[in-house]
Amino acid sequence: MKRLISAILLLTLLLSCTACSENAEQTEIASGETASSESTAPTSNQEKESKEDDIKPNETTGSAEVGKFDFEKKTVLLNSGYEMPILGLGTYSLSDEECYNSVTALLESGGRLIDTAYMYGNEAAVGRAVRDSDVPREEIFVITKIYPGEQFANPEKAIQDALDKLDIGYIDMMLLHHPGENDVKAYLAMEKFVEDGKIHSLGLSNFYVEELEEFLPQVHIPPALVQNEIHPYYQENDVIPYIQNLGIVVQGWYPFGGRGHTSELLGDSVISEIAEAHDVTSAQVILRWNLQKGVVVIPGSSNPDHIRENLDLFGFALTDAEMQRINELDRHEKHDWY
Ligand SMILES: NC(=O)c1ccc[n+]([C@@H]2O[C@H](COP(=O)([O-])OP(=O)(O)OC[C@H]3O[C@@H](n4cnc5c(N)ncnc54)[C@H](OP(=O)(O)O)[C@@H]3O)[C@@H](O)[C@H]2O)c1
Repeated sequence: MKRLISAILLLTLLLSCTACSENAEQTEIASGETASSESTAPTSNQEKESKEDDIKPNETTGSAEVGKFDFEKKTVLLNSGYEMPILGLGTYSLSDEECYNSVTALLESGGRLIDTAYMYGNEAAVGRAVRDSDVPREEIFVITKIYPGEQFANPEKAIQDALDKLDIGYIDMMLLHHPGENDVKAYLAMEKFVEDGKIHSLGLSNFYVEELEEFLPQVHIPPALVQNEIHPYYQENDVIPYIQNLGIVVQGWYPFGGRGHTSELLGDSVISEIAEAHDVTSAQVILRWNLQKGVVVIPGSSNPDHIRENLDLFGFALTDAEMQRINELDRHEKHDWY
């Protein structure tokens, strides 16, 4: 009898121990640790601390992932390791004085991203406005571009000319303006300036799927950005995800359709209706639609009120239904030839 009681006690003890260890496993799973994570668990406090440090940037900035927009900081992390603002100012067709005043208005209003190009003839004005500003150079992000023809044929000279005209120490990003003869040669020359620290990041403009497929295997530094025509009447809904899936950020030019088309686009009844519902302008709706698609915006303007308005995009959000309504406006209607 005594033996039987001992056996029952022993069995009860064994069963309760098994239950204990199952409970412990369930608690670990609930706290985010999986059974398989045991094998990779830190072996010392130091390792544990460094593991926690590693994930902090992700939690605090939300931008530790390349290409993901951080709406708090208004930046995106590029594949080059640099952060770029997700909204700024385009300077196409702005004369020297207009350009200087517009860049100054942008910087005074909190904008930090400026897009220029050799072709716009205003790199010197951009540089002067940046130098005259109280904003520290490292907070400002300047994009410029070199052009096919003479510039692609002599890229070192073209790049040095841009550095000299801008005169702001380094260029944050340089793009090839569009595909053309010697484009690979020009890009490889830009890569050398990256190695020398004179250019931080590289990119392309007016490159679509076929052009990218041909171009990318021929270069060493992956482009951090592709800048293409994008607006509600020309949406590139097939090209955008293709580029983004390569870890490349997409930036849109002609967000309002470009000069000569802006009144039609800003007056579009669907966009106006959505603007009214949010008590914002059509321009703000179009820019916000771009940001929610993960497209960086560089609207052009010489009007300080418009420049401020175009930066004020974070007090409202478009619903999925509103995004869809704008997506349905696509007419595949290109407003320039590139
Ligand atoms: N890579 C390329 O091949 C390429 C080609 C074209 C353009 N881009 C770049 O993309 C940028 C944007 O294109 P874009 O400037 O030509 O055209 P856009 O941004 O589509 O339109 C500019 C026009 O919109 C008006 N505008 C701006 N903000 C407004 C607002 N809040 N309300 C009403 N109207 C407003 C401007 O007038 P106000 O001056 O009166 O504000 C200007 O007439 C260019 O500046 C350039 O940096 C690149």
